[in-house]
Amino acid sequence: MTSLLTPIAIRGLEIPNRMWLAPMCQYQANNLDGVPLDWHLVHYGARAVGGFGLLIAESTGISPEGRISSRCTGLWNEAQVEAWERITNFVHAQGGLIGVQLNHAGRKASTYPALPNFPTGTQSVDEGGWETFGPSAVAQPGLADPTELTREGIEKVIQDFAAAAERAVRAGFDAVEVHGAHGYLLHQFLTPLANKRTDIYGGSFENRTRLFREVAQAIRAVIPDSMPLIARISATDWIDDEPSWDDDQTVSLVSDLKKLGVDAVDISTGGAVPATIPVEPSYQVKFARRVKQEVGIPTSAVGLITHVGQAQGHLDRGDADIISLGRAALRYPSWPLFAAHELGKTRDEIPYPPSYARGAW
Ligand code: FNR
Repeated sequence: MTSLLTPIAIRGLEIPNRMWLAPMCQYQANNLDGVPLDWHLVHYGARAVGGFGLLIAESTGISPEGRISSRCTGLWNEAQVEAWERITNFVHAQGGLIGVQLNHAGRKASTYPALPNFPTGTQSVDEGGWETFGPSAVAQPGLADPTELTREGIEKVIQDFAAAAERAVRAGFDAVEVHGAHGYLLHQFLTPLANKRTDIYGGSFENRTRLFREVAQAIRAVIPDSMPLIARISATDWIDDEPSWDDDQTVSLVSDLKKLGVDAVDISTGGAVPATIPVEPSYQVKFARRVKQEVGIPTSAVGLITHVGQAQGHLDRGDADIISLGRAALRYPSWPLFAAHELGKTRDEIPYPPSYARGAW
């Protein structure tokens, strides 16, 4: 029986357990320079010590215009590579592993940091924001109108993803995750709700998925053969009454991506447009289950999974191979160590850091 504590090998990476840290923006970089700081060292360091098998570092811009907010991290220059390297070194020194989520936010770029006391919506150019780009000049409801990407603009996006992936390798990351979910640029191309193009990047399923496939191929070509390439995908837009992105298309896309060298997927939902989402514990797991069963690729489930028994139950039922934790991991940085205790491991079997190992408990 697969346990949360069972290792999983993805390409050449031996990941010690099935509890992964979901990517979560911290909005703690200095305004505009995208360089991770002490906050990021402590945030990721604590969760490496806390026993997560693989940390996925937050949405990290492949270019300045690709950042979600002015305080997001980036991987478009050498100062950022150096700063990330300090973090990956620390994680490795604790026996941890860390990947990075590469993102272009498209029409959802240049928004205010999602922190208390900040406004919501687009930070305009006058207020220090920047011009945003999308597949079409169609705004995310409530955000600024994007400029439609030209064919040269699309080519630059592909090259920026590849260059950022190559920098991620040099920064010491163990895996690269492509952010194809939550209504950011790659998802914007997938969904007919945002993609109204009439060229080879719009219209048919083949055309709307083209950019995602090209980005996956471009990244695969620059990272080592042994390094996992992971994709995060929203399985559905949760929209029934007009053409949109759904789980049938997700299954087809994931099978295509698997052939192109994507090794694992993390299945989330939503984000392309406002929608009514039936949020409850494990509400996205059925989509992960479908992808895992029909495509046969290592699949992570995520979304309101907070309890050890709940997470283990999903592995027991074959719903997913991996459980990614978001908010529970913010509140409980050592969730995996506690899970090991709950699953009956003794103190000597749990990988506590030496400084925490004392005592009978
Ligand atoms: C997120 N989420 C998110 N997702 C993503 O793909 N990239 C990101 O950078 C972020 N940023 C982010 C910040 C914060 C503060 C939160 C709470 C969430 C979504 C996250 O990875 C996860 O999918 C959801 O939070 C649902 O899982 P939980 O929190 O219910 O376990």
